[in-house]
Amino acid sequence: MDKPRVIVTRRWPEEVELRLTEHFDVRLNPEDRPLGRDDLKAAFASADAVFSTVTDAIDAELLSTEPLRARLIGNFGVGFNNIDIDAARARGLTVTNTPEVLTDATADLAMALLLCIARRVGEGERHLREGAWTGWRPTHLMGTQVTGKTLGLIGFGRIGQAMARRAHRGFDMRVLFFDPFPPANAVLRELGAERRETVEAVLEESDFVSLHCPATPENRHLINAGRLSHMKPGAFLINTARGDVVDEAALNDALGDRLIAGAGLDVFEREPEVLPGLLARENVVLLPHLGSATRETRVAMGLKVLENAIAFFDGAEPPNRVT
Ligand code: DGY
Repeated sequence: MDKPRVIVTRRWPEEVELRLTEHFDVRLNPEDRPLGRDDLKAAFASADAVFSTVTDAIDAELLSTEPLRARLIGNFGVGFNNIDIDAARARGLTVTNTPEVLTDATADLAMALLLCIARRVGEGERHLREGAWTGWRPTHLMGTQVTGKTLGLIGFGRIGQAMARRAHRGFDMRVLFFDPFPPANAVLRELGAERRETVEAVLEESDFVSLHCPATPENRHLINAGRLSHMKPGAFLINTARGDVVDEAALNDALGDRLIAGAGLDVFEREPEVLPGLLARENVVLLPHLGSATRETRVAMGLKVLENAIAFFDGAEPPNRVT
């Protein structure tokens, strides 16, 4: 039997690409050029599966392409807000994602952002590289203590819980969270986490707020001007979830008005664009969507896409089916 035809939209770690070639008639993207809309449409018309990433906007218009050969979208990522799931379902496409394998890497990066913004790491590094450092002094680049402070988590799924574990066990932080679907009480006890009934209640009590909710239409601009005004003036916002969970213009205004002390952002509303106002600020740390970017994790993500696709083409249930 012929191997299923697969198109991979971006470059993947080499060892996973090699594994793909063992199982599929695969077209890789060695130059790592993002596919344009027409190329993406052609991929859906000519391949049995498309292995996409967060940068591929797979919407209803794109999926209305005729003829549609693809039956599977293997998304390289846990978030799948780049895909119109209803349209995929309506066209009979199965969508899979890559949960679990990136939980630790993403929580590590959220913690790194928290530490960097609290301790002014970006500012300090820029200062030193610019040759501005004149030596140690008692009041130089004083930051904010992290240990023992209160961390508020918006979203308490796998990554939120991993962040709580780091904060509570490693930094003796008090952990509060908002999530409409909280885990079992045993998990809350293990992580020393206290539930709050509203986002606002978490914002009002927290020294650091870290976002770990999905990018659903309901969560668009969840953190807006109104909600930012509930944060403490000395508090910091961390976002490793998705850019559109935060109203970036409102955040920029809040930072300018000193309504909050700073922000650590790994994701943005219009990636790869970043609001110029944010780029100009000292009290933000900005990263280019690196949450899952460790070699180990990116390999594991690729292997998860592969595992799901093998199951799908064998006629079995893919373990990480979204539709
Ligand atoms: C994820 O897995 O959701 C990462 O943000 C990359 O898409």
